[in-house]
Amino acid sequence: MTSGVEIKVAPSILAADFSRLGEQVAEASNGGADYIHVDMMDGHFVPPITIGAQVVSAIRPWSEVPIEVHMMVEEPTKFIPELVDAGADTAVVHVEACKDLRSTVDKIVSSGIKAGVALSPSTSELSLQGVLSNLSLVVAMTVEPGWGGQPFIPKVLDKVTRIRSMIDDGGYDAELEVDGGINIETAGYAVKAGAGILVAGTAIYGSGVPVDQAIANIRQSVHNIN
Ligand code: DX5
Ligand code: ZN
Repeated sequence: MTSGVEIKVAPSILAADFSRLGEQVAEASNGGADYIHVDMMDGHFVPPITIGAQVVSAIRPWSEVPIEVHMMVEEPTKFIPELVDAGADTAVVHVEACKDLRSTVDKIVSSGIKAGVALSPSTSELSLQGVLSNLSLVVAMTVEPGWGGQPFIPKVLDKVTRIRSMIDDGGYDAELEVDGGINIETAGYAVKAGAGILVAGTAIYGSGVPVDQAIANIRQSVHNIN
């Protein structure tokens, strides 16, 4: 990794202190985050229930950077209007949750916010065909969706590289993000494989150092991999 490449960091508030969520969002926003990553879980697509539009609305004033909502929900289209109203900047749907991915992406874009698509670790990048031109974000999950604090799955890196090629070869605008198990040990491998945005929850909110320092540590760690 050369030092001139800009890497973006998206702290996942899943690992934040929910009793003072607004402040934790501000610490990230003021501390070098490029996006705030919000993990919405419905108890169906994944077992836990976490955050909905009401919390997105509550934290919106605390962030000066865009908020991306990672929708680990069944039937994501029904939640799009309320996320738009709550101030979400990007809605990310899971390939595995969409009966008609193309129409779901179209609905997000036509509602006036950016569209992203997430792929679980075993989902093929070929599922992006036909929607990539409408996407602002592709999220390659490097853990199984549902929980923070899981170990990074290195075999996803080959897929990250294939998605990078699809985006570059097609001349698409989508950014490529990895989500799950990213820390100072793994971040460089993800960037080397082609990721441009790093989501990190535990490594930022649970590292024992201030949020701004944890973000800086992840950025710095990327330069350790060649
Ligand atoms: C998992 C979520 C992740 C999670 C990442 O389903 O999508 O965003 O918060 O947490 P860490 O960084 O702890 O793996
Ligand atoms: Zn996530």
